[in-house]
Amino acid sequence: MIRECIVITRGRTGVLQIAPLGLIEEGAHLVIAPFRPSLTLENLRENPFAVANYTDDVLVFAGCLTGRRDWPTKPATKVPGAVLEQALAHAELQVVDVKEDELRPRFRCAVVHEENHRTFHGFNRAQAAVVEAAILVSRLHMLPAEKIEREIAYLKIAIDKTAGPRERQAWDWLMQRIAEQDTGATERQ
Ligand SMILES: Cc1cc2nc3c(=O)[nH]c(=O)nc-3n(C[C@H](O)[C@H](O)[C@H](O)COP(=O)(O)O)c2cc1C
Repeated sequence: MIRECIVITRGRTGVLQIAPLGLIEEGAHLVIAPFRPSLTLENLRENPFAVANYTDDVLVFAGCLTGRRDWPTKPATKVPGAVLEQALAHAELQVVDVKEDELRPRFRCAVVHEENHRTFHGFNRAQAAVVEAAILVSRLHMLPAEKIEREIAYLKIAIDKTAGPRERQAWDWLMQRIAEQDTGATERQ
């Protein structure tokens, strides 16, 4: 089971890194597995705590993937770190061990504190589509253009049928990013 959330870590200097990451459930623990290179990874080495933010605001997912990482936060309750203002709920995590790996080290974390903030208003297909499209954007450099085109065409059905304004904005940011990649590829040919 993998939970797609917004992970906030804090480095030695106090600078926050806000990044969408899939946290892997392992019994009572959550595993953070960042691919190298990663600022989240560096922060976890310096300050072995993180906050997993559970949010239905997909603008944050799309924003982080398109250079918009400056989202409002507030201090966490029990760990040295920060909570996303938009979170419906959050979990404060402490790293208990690290499995080293050349490609993708695994930081196993204990949940030391959890809080609920807002009501969850049910599943929305456009939100799921934005999360899927954000994952495609995070892999643009390694996926064939036809696969991206095909999957985006399918995901767009849910956007057209079920999106609200935030989902549409998030979708537009991601589509702009894909278009920039396409232009870059054409110019390089
Ligand atoms: C839904 C979602 C899940 C992701 N999960 C991971 C993950 O588990 N590990 C990872 O390295 N990157 C993941 N990414 C990509 C990261 O968000 C992105 O590469 C980010 O910039 C990580 O680098 P950073 O730690 O330097 O911010 C995910 C992206 C999305 C949209």
